[in-house]
Parts: sequence; structure tokens; C-alpha cells
Amino acid sequence: MARSSANRASGFGSTLRQDAWWVEILPVVAVLGLFTVYATFRAFEGRFYEWGPYLSPFYSPLIDPEHHWWRLSPALLVLIGPLGFRATCYYYRKAYYRAFFLDPPGCAVGEGRKGAYRGETSFPFILQNLHRWFLYLAIVYLFFLWRDAIRGFFFQNGFGVGVGSLVLLANISLLTLYTFSCHSLRHLAGGKLDCFSCTAFGGPRHTTWRWLSWLNERHMLFAWMSLFSVGLADLYVRVVSAGVLRDFRLL
Ligand code: FES
Repeated sequence: MARSSANRASGFGSTLRQDAWWVEILPVVAVLGLFTVYATFRAFEGRFYEWGPYLSPFYSPLIDPEHHWWRLSPALLVLIGPLGFRATCYYYRKAYYRAFFLDPPGCAVGEGRKGAYRGETSFPFILQNLHRWFLYLAIVYLFFLWRDAIRGFFFQNGFGVGVGSLVLLANISLLTLYTFSCHSLRHLAGGKLDCFSCTAFGGPRHTTWRWLSWLNERHMLFAWMSLFSVGLADLYVRVVSAGVLRDFRLL
């Protein structure tokens, strides 16, 4: 149809869209940019990462805090798991390809480079295919973070509830929702099947797939909420550890 070639955007930013499509990318630039700067600073800072029973999620699991064999910040030893998982996430890929690479800047909006697009078939973007492996790693991290969150309720004088306990609990809950809403996990559970009743454990797989599908529909929401929660949980531990704020005990 002649209409299809007439509608095809050509040239950077050209589009037939009438809406303010560029508004969508501004918060992504602001939030992801800010988070990246803050997380980089905290990962290299190497201090103020624990207070009482609280441990910052950026430093969990805590490895060689006494610097017996690792001279730099302990966060750098564990960064690869969460960083790799988020960087290769299908949702974040869409968000940062649009917001930072402008490639394309929006759906049905013209991109700058023509003819050079190779998608994720060559280095470095071919590494995005590691996402499923980062998912397995992320599930291992969840165990450590749940352990940290539970420890956050046990103070020197026994069980208690501080603001930090609830902050860490909220954070790991959101991280769990983010991880279990992953597209790769849904695919593993049943997304790749054409027929549940024709496969082993078809019933339980179908049930699991339905639950994961429900979470998956909200993946974007969990991606942002868990990004905020992990940053705020670290910030909370940092300010309490640095003595800027006092942890308030509720119980
Ligand atoms: Fe986003 Fe897997 S697709 S975490």
C-alpha cells in the first residue's frame, strides 16, 4: 500500500505521530542517569554500608570487608550480578535504547543512523543474550537479600523493628517481584510451550506460568519501584551509618 511508505519516518526525529512522544524519554534519562551516578559513587565509596543489623543491598553479600585480599570497595565484588541483570533486562533495554541512544527515540520515530543497524547480533549488544544467566544469578542474590532483611529485625538486644528493618523488607519484596516478573522466567515456566497438557507436569507449569504472567504484565512497574527501593535502602543505611540520621525504633 502506498500509505505504508508515506508513513515511514525518515530522518532523525521525523514522525507522523501527533503526541508529545519525547516526554516519555525525559524521566528515563533523569531517573536512570541519577541512579547510575549515585550507584557508581556508592559502589566505589566502600564505607557507610552497614549499621547495627542493617546491610546496604549494594554490598550484599558482603565479601572481605576487612580487606584481607581485596583492597577496593566490597561492593565491586558483587556488582556484576544486579548490574548485569538490570542492564540486560528486556524492559530496561527498550528504555535506555530510546532514552540514551535515541535508537530509535520512540516508536515510529525516525532514528539517526541508517543502514548500520545490526540489532543485538554483534558485540557488545550480543551480550544482552546473557539475560537468562543473569536471572539465575539474580535468584541467588535474592536469598542473600532476604537473609539480610530478616537479620534487619535482630538487634543486639534481640528482636525489634526499626525504620531500617521495614526499608530493607520493602526493598527485598520489590526486588523479588521484579525478578519473578522477568520475561525470561515466564518463558522458562511455560511461555515457550504450545501445549501444556502435552508436556510433563503440564498442570503445575500452567499454574506457575499464569502467576508469572500476571507478574510479567506489571514488569515495568516493578522495574521502577525496585530501582527506587534499592537506591533508597542504600541511602537509608548510608545516612544512618554516617550518623546523619538516627534509626527510629518502632518496637
Ligand atoms: Fe526484565 Fe528479565 S526481562 S528482568
